[in-house]
Amino acid sequence: MIKLSQYLTYGILQLLLLPVSVLGAFYAFQKEKYISKKLNISYTAGQVIQGQWILHFFGIREDKKIIKFIKNFPAESHIGFYMMMLPAIIANKITGFTPTALVKKNLKKISSYSFLFFRTMKFDSIISQNINFVDQLVIIGAGFDLRANSIKNSNIKIFELDKKNTQDLKIKTLKKAKIYDNNITYINCDLNNKNWSDDLINNGFDKSEKTLFLFESVSCYLEKEIVENTFEQISSISVKGSLLAQDFYSTKFLHGSEFRRVKKGKELIKKFGENWKFTLDMSKDIKEELKLLFNTNNLVEKELFICGKNSTKSKEPFYAISLAKTI
Ligand SMILES: C[S@@+](CC[C@H](N)C(=O)[O-])C[C@H]1O[C@@H](n2cnc3c(N)ncnc32)[C@H](O)[C@@H]1O
Repeated sequence: MIKLSQYLTYGILQLLLLPVSVLGAFYAFQKEKYISKKLNISYTAGQVIQGQWILHFFGIREDKKIIKFIKNFPAESHIGFYMMMLPAIIANKITGFTPTALVKKNLKKISSYSFLFFRTMKFDSIISQNINFVDQLVIIGAGFDLRANSIKNSNIKIFELDKKNTQDLKIKTLKKAKIYDNNITYINCDLNNKNWSDDLINNGFDKSEKTLFLFESVSCYLEKEIVENTFEQISSISVKGSLLAQDFYSTKFLHGSEFRRVKKGKELIKKFGENWKFTLDMSKDIKEELKLLFNTNNLVEKELFICGKNSTKSKEPFYAISLAKTI
């Protein structure tokens, strides 16, 4: 009954405020596309922080830094998002309305929309559960993610890697928003250059210390050979017990025709020089597929979260998050 009244309130507000939300969405997305292209930065990295903005405003994941960042970031529009989400935000304040996609927990029911929010929350929990057992955190392809800026333990060495333009704009925005953190070492790198771990070591990475590597939604932009090289590099510089958290997309999801929204997204991101490449065949046993990938690089699976089995037409999962450790 409560749910019904929440959705009813949201529906009425959405109707009343439709021009405001359409205008906001149009402005935010046009600005994002135009500036991302002009500055040659990662368009998809911007999309991740939009999800974090939403989670913040629904009170699910407080992240004041991401809001400050977006307010100062030339390729996103805080006002645009606010206008776009206004009906839902007001409904949330009045009735507690929360779109179900933001809080889905049943892995099998995670959909091609709700996985974005699930992913953020799951990587958060992987970090919070493991950060006190490592000495270093390396975020590979960090984009505009600000998790590193919220790590309270200053004894942990933190490194962020990404391509130059994306990383330079991130640093500039962090400084403008007055949330730049001297404890984070930024290293610009292209993972296609196979020796990126040398730069990590030259910038203070300690091979004798336990490390948590995050590789969130980056491998799908790389060729399989480069993904394998990334594992090789990680394994060659890591002590036993280091951790690698990463996610995988299914071949059907990124390269098939089952998901129309994803197909459209693929065309769009190509315009920004980004392209989905590496995937896992999730019609097969995912654990076995991962073993084949990990085994040669001294990695073994520790935890695995397989998503979407019941939400897809093909009844196959389309997304997985894995936590592996070095042996
Ligand atoms: C979808 S974003 C994910 C960003 C971040 N990991 C997150 O979850 O918020 C993909 C990121 O991978 C980075 N990336 C893609 N290809 C790369 C490459 N060859 N070398 C370094 N970074 C790369 C992009 O610049 C972008 O920041």
